[in-house]
This record gives sequence, C-alpha cells and structure tokens, in this order.
Amino acid sequence: MYDWNAYRERIQWFEHDRFGMFIHWGLYAIPAKGEWLRSAERVSNEDYQKYFDMFDPVDYHPREWARIAKDAGMKYAVLTAKHHDGFCLFDSAYTGYKATNTKAGRDLVREYLEAFRAEGLKVGLYYSLLDWHHEDYPHYGDPYHPMRENEAYKGRQHNFDGYLEYMHRQVRELCTNYGKLDLLWFDFSYDDMTGERWRATDLVRMARSLQPHVLIDNRLEVAHQSSRLGDEPKEYAGDFVSPEQLLPPEGMRNRKGEPVLWEACVTMNNNWGYHQNDRLFKPPSMIIRKLAECVSKGGNLLLNVGPDARGRIPGESVRILGEVGKWIKKNGESVYGCGAADIAKPDFGRVTLRKRPGGGKTYYFHITENTVGLLPLPGIPKEAIKSVRLLETGAELPCVNDFRTAHYDNVFVHVSDDPVLPDETDTVVAVEL
Ligand code: GLC
Repeated sequence: MYDWNAYRERIQWFEHDRFGMFIHWGLYAIPAKGEWLRSAERVSNEDYQKYFDMFDPVDYHPREWARIAKDAGMKYAVLTAKHHDGFCLFDSAYTGYKATNTKAGRDLVREYLEAFRAEGLKVGLYYSLLDWHHEDYPHYGDPYHPMRENEAYKGRQHNFDGYLEYMHRQVRELCTNYGKLDLLWFDFSYDDMTGERWRATDLVRMARSLQPHVLIDNRLEVAHQSSRLGDEPKEYAGDFVSPEQLLPPEGMRNRKGEPVLWEACVTMNNNWGYHQNDRLFKPPSMIIRKLAECVSKGGNLLLNVGPDARGRIPGESVRILGEVGKWIKKNGESVYGCGAADIAKPDFGRVTLRKRPGGGKTYYFHITENTVGLLPLPGIPKEAIKSVRLLETGAELPCVNDFRTAHYDNVFVHVSDDPVLPDETDTVVAVEL
C-alpha cells in the first residue's frame, strides 16, 4: 500500500514554495551548444575528453547563484550533479570522471549545496539515469547514445548490471555525503528503460532510507506512463510529475480525476545547458505570467539557467530574473502557499487561491489584460467578501453598484481610473472571504 501520509507530509514545502531554479551545468558549457551536443553530433568519449581537460570554472561562485535565485523569488534549486554525458560535478569514489580531477579541483556540488543552504534555499540534485561515458551503458542501437550508429560499437559487450551498480552507488554517495537533500531529480526513462530496469524500487527505498524527507521526481518511469497519474502510484512513482517545456493546459489530474502535484521545467531561452548563440530569451513579463499560470493550475515552475564555462549565469538570465524578483517582492503573497482556485479562469487573467486555516480564503485575481471600467469578480459571492485590496499597495478597492452593473450578478471592483494597469505585466487584486 502506498504511504499517503508520508507523501502528504513531504510535499508540503514544495507545494508552498512554487518557484525554483534549475541549473544545467557541466563540460558541455565549453562547446556552448547545449547539453545534448554529444548525442546530436555523435561525439566520442575521446573527442569529448578535451573539455574535461579544459574545464576550469574560475568564476564559479555559487553564493552569487544563490543570491540571484533568492532575489528572483525562487525558493529552491536543482543542480545537475551528473548529466547524460556522465561527467560528475561531485567527488564520487566510483569514477575519475569528476570535477575534482579537472582544473577545478573541487567538489562543485558540495559548494553549491552549502551556498544555497546558506541563503535559505532548499536544495535538490539532478542525476541522469543515462550515462554516455560509462562503458556499461547501452551504446550501439540505443536511441540517444552518441555511438548509437557507430559500427565499431556494434556487438561490443556491456554489462548493464555493472552500470546499475555504479548508478546506485553514486546515488547512495549523494544521499550520504552531502547532508540533507530536499529533492532528487532523476532523468529520464524511455522505451523499456523504465521502472525496474533501473531497479527503481531499490533505488527509491535506499534514497528514502538515507533522506527520509526527500522529494523525488517522476522520471524513473516513462513520463507519460507515470503511475502518479494512474489509480495507484508505484513506490517509485515520484512525488510530482514533470511536464517539460510546456504548461499543462488544465493542470494535471490522475485517472480518478484528483489533482496531481506537478512542476513544469522550462528554459529561459531554448536550451538547458549554456548555448552561446541562443538569445531567444523569454521576457520577464512572460515568465511572471507563466509563474502565475502554474500556481493557478496547482503547479510549480522550475526555471532553468545554464551557467557558462567560467561558471557565470548568463547576464541576460540575471537581468530577467531581477525583473521577476521585483514583481515577486510586491506580489509574492499571491504565489507562495497558493494553489489552483475553485472558480473559473476569468478572461482578464488568472486566479490563485490561498486557503487560510479556519476555513477563510483569499482569491488573488491576476489581471494581465485590463478590463474596461470595472473589474468583474466572477464566482465571488458578494455577501462573503471581507475585503478587496490592491496587493502591491494594500489599498482598499471599492465594490461598485451602479447603472453599469445593474444587469449582472457579478461583483464589480474599481481598480483605477487609469486604463493602464498599475503593473502592466500582472496586477494582483486580493479578495478576502
Ligand atoms: C530532458 C533532457 C535534458 C534536460 C531535462 C530537463 O529530458 O534530456 O537535457 O536535462 O530534460 O527536464
């Protein structure tokens, strides 16, 4: 039987915090074409070795990363301890393919964890199930491996059990040597490489025995087959589902129709790993609105940055995150601790809901497109209203009843005489019942 009590308890912080930073960083920052470069360009271990030899992130100051995340209003972070290329940012006893053996000469995961914790953020680690460097990972014929079509690899033996042993040992190291981890983000399952193929029950039991509170994502299963979305989650189902580069149109529900916790992972430009020519960044207004959208649908936003080879978060990301932070400082109350509202989405924007202990509720109406004259509050019964206020100033907003409103049952609020919203990106009106 699935332990629902333990589940409900461990997801509490996550459901409250809503906004996190994803960090994709590794050797691939040097070729600067995103983290799939090895696969896309069929780069051999030998040809990729030069990046290991060059890696020297002299500007890696994780405390700065942590401050950037914190100022943006992010409450947790997830760093790639190992990505698909197999390079470990941590000091693993089971491989030489790690940051400590590069010019960096340090355990970069440990420094990240210490820095982010010191800034009061929750900490997570991403760990790739795929490994294009390990000799026992399937190569020829695998759909993604850089050597998948290289005839020299055809028929070459590999011992997948040996890889699993390695993978489990590394996860044990991460869960043992680094203090409390708040989140583990495994990536990813495909085809028959799913569930018990990873010895997922053992893996999750081990992780939870060492880190009783840790949250785990759902990618030990093929994402669209997630048993978290079925009738009964498997032990390794993961605590939340992880839609990628997409916000679920209506939030997410399991087969019984119950809401399921989710976290959308989204890039700021179009790459996870640093990409020097990808300047297609989402503007701050879009990110702010998408964050509100996630919360209004009961989900989290894990927003990615791809630091460069020197260890810096790209300037454009920093600038955008700064803008997001300004909005959050004024309107964070409508994000943290809030979730999906039980009323329909209004056509001027979205609604997030805070349920207060004792039964009270506050609805946050996010106006992203101003209305003419008055703001209708669809779904809000007039008698139940205790207050209506502009969130960013706390100013009371009057409910209006006049010739314009006479035909309608809706409550109407006067936000401002100015047709331009106080915050053109997302002006929040807090309605307390
Ligand atoms: C993917 C990609 C990857 C990225 C991840 C983030 O599945 O393989 O490179 O780390 O999703 O969600």
